[in-house]
Amino acid sequence: DGAHLAAAAHRVPSVRADLAATFRTALNSAFPNVPMEPQVAATNNPRFGDYQCNNAMQLFGRMKGKEGAPKKPTDVANAIVDALPASDMIAERPTLAGPGFINVKLNHGWIAERIHSMLVQGIGVWAPPLPYNRAIVDFSSPNVAKEMHVGHLRSTIIGDTIARSLEFCGVDTLRINHVGDWGTQFGMLIEHISDTRNGLTGTTTEEVSDLQKLYKESKARFDADDDFKARARAAVTRLQSGEQEYLETWKRICEASRDEFYAIYERLDVRLLWRGESYYNPQLRPLVEELHERGIAEESEGALVIHMPKEKQPLMIRKSDGGFGYGTTDMATLKQRIHEEKAEWIIYVTDEGQSGHFKLVFGSGKKAGIIPEENPPRIDHVGFGLVLNKDGKRIRTRDMGEATKLVELLDEAKNLCKVEIKERRGEETDEKLKALNLDAEQIEERRKKRGEPFTEEELEEAAAIMGYGAVKYADLKNNRKTDYKFNLEDMVALNGNTAVYMLYAHARIASIVRKVGKDVNEVAKTAQITLEHPAEIALGLQIVQFTETLEDMFVDLAPNRITEYVYELANLFSTFYTECKVSGSEQEDSRLLLCEATAIVMRQCLTLLGIKPLYRI
Ligand code: ARG
Repeated sequence: DGAHLAAAAHRVPSVRADLAATFRTALNSAFPNVPMEPQVAATNNPRFGDYQCNNAMQLFGRMKGKEGAPKKPTDVANAIVDALPASDMIAERPTLAGPGFINVKLNHGWIAERIHSMLVQGIGVWAPPLPYNRAIVDFSSPNVAKEMHVGHLRSTIIGDTIARSLEFCGVDTLRINHVGDWGTQFGMLIEHISDTRNGLTGTTTEEVSDLQKLYKESKARFDADDDFKARARAAVTRLQSGEQEYLETWKRICEASRDEFYAIYERLDVRLLWRGESYYNPQLRPLVEELHERGIAEESEGALVIHMPKEKQPLMIRKSDGGFGYGTTDMATLKQRIHEEKAEWIIYVTDEGQSGHFKLVFGSGKKAGIIPEENPPRIDHVGFGLVLNKDGKRIRTRDMGEATKLVELLDEAKNLCKVEIKERRGEETDEKLKALNLDAEQIEERRKKRGEPFTEEELEEAAAIMGYGAVKYADLKNNRKTDYKFNLEDMVALNGNTAVYMLYAHARIASIVRKVGKDVNEVAKTAQITLEHPAEIALGLQIVQFTETLEDMFVDLAPNRITEYVYELANLFSTFYTECKVSGSEQEDSRLLLCEATAIVMRQCLTLLGIKPLYRI
């Protein structure tokens, strides 16, 4: 952890944090008796400068009526501005707006310098330092023998982006797949296998690999046949008490499920440690007994529950039949993660429907002292909305047609992109290019850029990156709490806020850089960046705001902060490239560096979103 902190020392604070530090000095010196944290935010209207400091109004309110108090908020604002220490980052004396907003314009040379030093030192210096050494992200976590569908995809995609962001910031991150591998479904599955396959000892993993079929069949028997139901219930007990044959069959079912899940993770380039509910099984009984003895858990209608003063529902930790459930496991899991794994930040990514459950778990954890009062870890439940079909209805496993199976959706996304890439790389008629509103020079450029044809392998790879990237991006760009409609055509659209647009934007910058034909690292050694044209300035400002974008992402764990940022970055680059000549211009070196910086930041964003950047499409 010393290494992590040392690495953090090399990090550059965000522009916002830097500016806030300057204002903190001013506030302390102008109003030492009214301590207040600086309130600094980027503006979204250049009329109000690049950033605004909003402390004056509140400070005025606090001092009002006291002896020698300022007469109006603008007096407070002026006093703050007067007290600002000399700073390279602020361009000119800030102006005031409205009742006392302080508008700050950044020095363009300072922005350019900051970008330049990132080019020299690498994007790692722009990772915001986080006050956690070790984090756990609990995500994906499907249930064994049930199929993963588009709904499960959300947890996998959102969790992966959060994990990638933590890793980028140097946090040791455990990616845990809290698979539902210990539920009551195993009783009926095992009994059914025993009846219909080669018995409990003779059945191979292979033979249980059609888990959906197995699940459907056994569920039908469970619902229709009381005898079978009783046997299934008994089988759960036999399994949980560790009977050899039962355990082995259970293992085989898990293996088959695991193969299926990991085939998808591999496609999606997601790493996950399989640590299912069963992992915590040995800890359940002692924990429940301890909580009972200490009076944390109470008996209620034969069950054992933990009451919370503000919650209507208690957390059930032992059912009236003596069995342990989802909540019991989550209590043991919480304990293991805090006290054995020493996690300082624990993040659970599930549908919003489970927020009540997690409230109870976290509340019970506090009540039981599992979450310590002193230096408690940060714990978040990251909830997300539903995935809806085109008609706006919830997609459910049971009414899913073949076509909405996850694997097939991914295949389809990839195929759509393959067609699209082929088309774009293939014969483009002049009519077609004209329809895109390109001029003669751009048409020529485009033909040149297309360069060597793709090999079949390259095509496959690009199509997969684009197709899977499109699905990921379309998920991540939504506010995670809202439901969204799953629409493949929209996801792979060439224009708008999509992965396809972003990948093309990145490849385009890469080709511009290639076209200049200089070694960017060499250029960076001698040349500086100069931001003069308004389009250069706007692009430069957006580039240096990368760090605070990530800071914001970590506040509410909202990946759409990253997509919004990178989309705006691509748009600003597009304006820049339309208005500013790069290759062969007088500012070639400076602009080349600006292009490269844009590409680096864009690549980092794409990487955080789990999308591999393409250099040529
Ligand atoms: N298996 C659960 C489900 O599919 C999600 C588990 C989430 N993690 C946890 N620690 N409860 O609903």
